[in-house]
Amino acid sequence: MKRVLITGANRGIGLELTRQYLAEGDSVIACVRDPAAATALRALPGQAQLAIERMDMADFATIAVARQRIGDTPLDILINNAGVSGGPRQGIDDVDIDAWHETLNVNTIAPLLVARAFKSNLVACGDGKLMNVTSQLAASTWPMGGMLIYSTTKAALSKVAQILAIDWKNDPVTVALMHPGWVRTDMGGPHAQLTVEESASGIRRVIAGLTRSDSGRFYKWNGEIHPW
Ligand SMILES: NC(=O)c1ccc[n+]([C@@H]2O[C@H](COP(=O)([O-])OP(=O)(O)OC[C@H]3O[C@@H](n4cnc5c(N)ncnc54)[C@H](OP(=O)(O)O)[C@@H]3O)[C@@H](O)[C@H]2O)c1
Repeated sequence: MKRVLITGANRGIGLELTRQYLAEGDSVIACVRDPAAATALRALPGQAQLAIERMDMADFATIAVARQRIGDTPLDILINNAGVSGGPRQGIDDVDIDAWHETLNVNTIAPLLVARAFKSNLVACGDGKLMNVTSQLAASTWPMGGMLIYSTTKAALSKVAQILAIDWKNDPVTVALMHPGWVRTDMGGPHAQLTVEESASGIRRVIAGLTRSDSGRFYKWNGEIHPW
């Protein structure tokens, strides 16, 4: 049985990751903005293995409170999954600067604070795995313009993950990055390529196969290496 912490577990890919880990008999700490509204999580089978904790990635104090509540519980896997798109105004001539700052907090800075807060929990299991859900839009190979806020905050998250992998190279924690595919969620929209089931099962397979020498690698949901 693995112990897994997932951020942004209220819906979309995070909810499906939670469902799949519970179905495997693993225990999951599902972190959400508002536990009282987490009705989909409370309807999942395997409730005995599920803990729901408040963690609002836009309110950094909640990360420290969650760490206190969870204590020194060892974690095998931590998935920095929560993310936002940054809203509709993301063009060069019309970019919402306030939304850019808020999105940087959620997509880039909060995942670093989560990683830092729970590092000792990952170390405590002896072979912790930290997966950061970034995007193909963060890669220098992504050919399309626009989406300034989303692309830059995810590119910065990718850099954060790379720095964590380098700075923690002597610790028993493997840090990796994931493009989950274009997935049919509220963010991906109804015409996306993959179901949440396909994306989440691919992400879980990649995490299960990670070894220390994979630290710093950027993966696609199907296990291929994503170009930076
Ligand atoms: N879907 C795609 O095609 C795609 C492609 C590439 C990368 N991704 C990345 O994959 C991850 C999951 O995306 P998704 O498609 O599942 O998106 P989604 O359906 O929009 O779900 C986003 C999740 O993040 C949570 N969240 C947003 N802001 C938060 C905050 N301040 N604090 C805590 N949780 C917060 C949401 O919680 P609430 O329900 O409370 O809002 C929700 O659970 C994201 O990092 C996204 O950027 C998705």
